[in-house]
Amino acid sequence: MANYTLIGPITQLVTLAGLPLKGALKDEDLVTIADAGILIHGTKIHSIGVYNELKENSVSLAPQIVSLEGSHVCVPGFVDSHTHICFGGSRANDYAMRNAGKTYLEIAKSGGGIWDTVTQTRKATQEELTQGTIARANRHLKAGVTTIEVKSGYGLSVEEELKMLRAIKAAKTHVSADLVTTCLAAHILPKDFEGGHAAYLAEISEKVFPILKEEQLANRIDAFIEEEAFSGEIVAPYFEKAKELGFDITVHADQFSTSGSEVAIQFEAVSADHLEASTDKEINLLANSDVVSTALPGASIGLGCAFTPARKILDAGGAVAIASDWNPGSAPMGDLLTQAAILGTFQKLSNTELLAGITYRAAHTLKLEDRGQLIAGNLADFNLFPTHNVNEIFYQQGKLTPSQVWKNGKKVF
Ligand code: NIG
Ligand code: FE
Repeated sequence: MANYTLIGPITQLVTLAGLPLKGALKDEDLVTIADAGILIHGTKIHSIGVYNELKENSVSLAPQIVSLEGSHVCVPGFVDSHTHICFGGSRANDYAMRNAGKTYLEIAKSGGGIWDTVTQTRKATQEELTQGTIARANRHLKAGVTTIEVKSGYGLSVEEELKMLRAIKAAKTHVSADLVTTCLAAHILPKDFEGGHAAYLAEISEKVFPILKEEQLANRIDAFIEEEAFSGEIVAPYFEKAKELGFDITVHADQFSTSGSEVAIQFEAVSADHLEASTDKEINLLANSDVVSTALPGASIGLGCAFTPARKILDAGGAVAIASDWNPGSAPMGDLLTQAAILGTFQKLSNTELLAGITYRAAHTLKLEDRGQLIAGNLADFNLFPTHNVNEIFYQQGKLTPSQVWKNGKKVF
């Protein structure tokens, strides 16, 4: 029978099976299987178990055997649930200015910041944006990221947002990783829009939302709720319209000032992302809601500011995903594993919490329940690391990289 593959023996296989969406996790919660194997059927996991037993029991299926030498730790493919990897240009000069003492908001006010990337993204052709997205997605894939959310938000006009969204759609067919697109037309008010914040969002919802559906460009809507971007009040009718049309909501919330997380809860968003400024009040509200809190350590590292209070959110019973926020401004590094490791040291997160944050908890924010845990029926998306001990992965702070990456049952790296 065709189409079965058996891979093993794997020194230590970490399934993350049975772990909860919400709350703190201990390293003792991490179930590992020694000398394990994965039997793949097509794109999915058929079964997982001890390699020798799987081998014996699957003889009748005549799987293709991929036998491994040496030590390997297997973990689910990583899910990066928040990126801005479709963009033109660079903001290296902003970065230098920030390090020399200017704040992110000061740079934005003086014409740099997000608007600078908008200018450079508008100059790029759709094809150039597609190529940039492909290159960054492939770099992520090599690092074990098999599912990548990608936002628009550097076009900021009807046509330029659609150009970005079409560029991302075109990139999908050229990369092995799954790309999940989000419309972030509500990033900032474009300087050249003749009218205020409400009029701009009304135009986007009128003219862009129907095309998102028609061309299947995106089913997620994001907004940056911040003093320099959009207020919760202004965003409310925009989110209402989005919800009426069946879009999922996600929010750039509490990055510099609070209020975004409350809007996220009000609109039953799938996630509230950033939260560096969240206080105990927001932490408790989030923890008691179904909104996943997404920590973006790359933005804290890029801006030199506080980390998302992930420890407090988990201890209050919340769900914490960890994403890279890879973008040309606040988070240029684009290395999810390194960033998760650093968040772990500063926020005192267990390796289980870190792994959960970059796998099934992140997948949940994208409504992708078929990945992030290595269990029968899920997609065969997994990484092999050249070590015998899962703790080496975060210990090496991103310097231990996968020796193999499997996506949809195929070795892609
Ligand atoms: O998630 N905070 C708003 N948006 C992005 C940054 C975008 C940029 O600086 O280009 C973020 O950090
Ligand atoms: Fe972001």
